[in-house]
Amino acid sequence: MIKRLGIVGSGIMGSGIAEVAAKAGVEVILRSRQQQTADAMVAGLGKALDKQVERGKLGEAERDQVLSRVTATHDLHALTECDLVLESVVEDLEVKKELFRGLDLAVKDDAILATNTSTLPVVELAMVTERPERVCGIHFFNPAPAMSLVEVVRPLTASDDTISQAREFAQSCGKEPVEVKDRAGFIVNALLFPYLNNAVRMLETGTATRDDIDAAMKGGCNFPMGPLALLDLVGLDTSVAILDALYAEFHDPNYSAVPTLRRMVTAGHLGRKSKVGFYDYRK
Ligand SMILES: NC(=O)c1ccc[n+]([C@@H]2O[C@H](COP(=O)([O-])OP(=O)(O)OC[C@H]3O[C@@H](n4cnc5c(N)ncnc54)[C@H](O)[C@@H]3O)[C@@H](O)[C@H]2O)c1
Repeated sequence: MIKRLGIVGSGIMGSGIAEVAAKAGVEVILRSRQQQTADAMVAGLGKALDKQVERGKLGEAERDQVLSRVTATHDLHALTECDLVLESVVEDLEVKKELFRGLDLAVKDDAILATNTSTLPVVELAMVTERPERVCGIHFFNPAPAMSLVEVVRPLTASDDTISQAREFAQSCGKEPVEVKDRAGFIVNALLFPYLNNAVRMLETGTATRDDIDAAMKGGCNFPMGPLALLDLVGLDTSVAILDALYAEFHDPNYSAVPTLRRMVTAGHLGRKSKVGFYDYRK
């Protein structure tokens, strides 16, 4: 049973997963490269919980309990006693490999090391450790507190016990786990990203406007948000990284990121996190 969780990475996903796990009664240690960023993340979580109290969705005592379960660190060795460490840093294989090497040395031998990667080969992370059987993917969705799905990714190297503990952890967080083999994009992103990429292509070719593309998919398919708004939520840098990993594995032209996406990333238009993407969030 997972009693103590380490989360590495203080971006959109790391903070969302911290909230989910702490609410489920798990002790959470958040690790960022800088103490200041890790502290800011805990402060951000406090603010998010305050809002939930204001809206009557959370009691004050519960908020205090949740916050008391979360600590922040910059030191990988502070994760030594964790039962599970979930990595959620930038979608870059070399960065993640380096981190897994460090985690393997820092964290107790029987702990599970998991990745929240959207597309990268989990087996590559398993093989840089001395415990490949204890490595798997635990892929939460964005925003983690709201989305019910978790993809549990089974690389060739993972033991049955690791996979069943990962499933149990997801369930204990109130999520519904599905199991998937270690293939780029797993289930959801392999199916979703050709659609998102083609929506940008449609905008690029002037077939329809941004607002009409998003309105069409909301009204015509009953999707809660249109594809361009969803790309802004995911982050355009993360989206290009996901498409690149899918293209590298399958060579399907639908996975080849359209030029507009790359240009927007170069310009720093990353979506909500940079306050500008297909939409403007500065107002
Ligand atoms: N954004 C989504 O919708 C989504 C959904 C599910 C899974 N994911 C996956 O979660 C992971 C994190 O995504 P995110 O959206 O939270 O990204 P983000 O851009 O919000 O955060 C990335 C984090 O990585 C850290 N980082 C950057 N370079 C680093 C380095 N060299 N060493 C260590 N840390 C570094 C940053 O400081 C930041 O804390 C990625 O693997 C992504 O594919 C993202």
